[in-house]
Amino acid sequence: MTGPESEEELLRRAVCPGSFDPVTNGHLDIIARASKLYDEVYVAVMINKSKQGLFTVEERMDLLRQVTAEYGNVRVESFHGLLVDFCKQRDIPAIVKGLRAVSDFDYELQMAQMNNGLSGVETLFVPTNPTYSFLSSSLVKEVAAWGGDVSHLVPPLVLGALLERLGENK
Ligand code: PNS
Repeated sequence: MTGPESEEELLRRAVCPGSFDPVTNGHLDIIARASKLYDEVYVAVMINKSKQGLFTVEERMDLLRQVTAEYGNVRVESFHGLLVDFCKQRDIPAIVKGLRAVSDFDYELQMAQMNNGLSGVETLFVPTNPTYSFLSSSLVKEVAAWGGDVSHLVPPLVLGALLERLGENK
């Protein structure tokens, strides 16, 4: 047989991995753009047992599911261990990452080359929308914790969850 054996094989899949603690407008921009390029986009939330986040992995996934609900081809899952194993288990040939600045590139290149060497999975870099080139979840949490306005940096749902959690932690 020459062509693909089933419709499944025709699907172009990609993964957007990260910690997403919490998801920001910068992440959402990359996920939305990946969803236009691929048939199925997996948003994979890394489970890192050695680092406690502000939100639990379940909470992060719940926020991600709600803010990506408008994209019918995006699904949210968690993973632990190697990202390439997550890809292998789901037949995902591509990782999509946002690049904010040249400073991101060194480490991202290392990871891309390691992942490719481990399993042949490709990494595609999408230049971040300049509006979000300075944005990270850590900065959002720090600014919000000190009372700064981050309403333009995260979706309203995330803002609400963030302010509530920071209030609880006071
Ligand atoms: O949002 P983050 O914290 O910058 O995301 C980092 C992430 C999850 C993409 C990266 O740490 C990762 O892929 N971790 C999974 C473990 C793994 O595969 N390590 C080898 C990378 S070469």
